[in-house]
Amino acid sequence: MRAEILRLPIKVAGFEVFKGHLDVSAQVEALEELRDVARIAPMRHPITRFGKQMSVRMTSAGRLGWISDARGYRYESRHPDGMAWPAIPAGILSLWRDITGLERLPDCCLINFYGEGARMGLHQDNDEGDFSYPVVSISLGDDGLFRMGGTERGGKTQSLWLNSGDVVVMDGEARLAYHGVDRIRFGSSSLLPDGGRINVTLRVVADLD
Ligand code: SIN
Ligand code: MN
Repeated sequence: MRAEILRLPIKVAGFEVFKGHLDVSAQVEALEELRDVARIAPMRHPITRFGKQMSVRMTSAGRLGWISDARGYRYESRHPDGMAWPAIPAGILSLWRDITGLERLPDCCLINFYGEGARMGLHQDNDEGDFSYPVVSISLGDDGLFRMGGTERGGKTQSLWLNSGDVVVMDGEARLAYHGVDRIRFGSSSLLPDGGRINVTLRVVADLD
């Protein structure tokens, strides 16, 4: 996957934002790879442990996938339908290497799809058991209004529109910072023919027994 590796990130509330990191051909390539994942491990509309359906649909690739159901949030080695998660696509892994420079590869590639009206409330990524590695987040398709806070719930937040091809890194002070997506501009990008936004997050997950 081709990427602009010379562009420096901007820092917003400790989050590193690489605007326009993926050019259009790299975005199309990533999308194809993600479609292959979703063909094997279909996107689902998860429910929370409170029985509420999330507005995003999601699936995963990698050794572990992130799921939410009546038992709560966690990582599992199988899709809720029973199949193993597909491998993390090669282009997505090379983006992880370009951005982080790490030898250690992510265990989970969580793929979120935001259709019209979908959003994601403020939350921390804190189910991984090891917070010493960054979380890398890739935006594809429609614009999304990304809200970034600190490590305390209810603290001050800043917002930024993420566009297709942007990459955000949550590391250091931002690794456990609250974040969420208030809304998308449905139909603002032509990357997905039927509209919508895809966000991919790459995470290292500790083995928790
Ligand atoms: C997430 O926090 O899992 C998704 C963030 C985003 O959609 O940009
Ligand atoms: Mn998150």
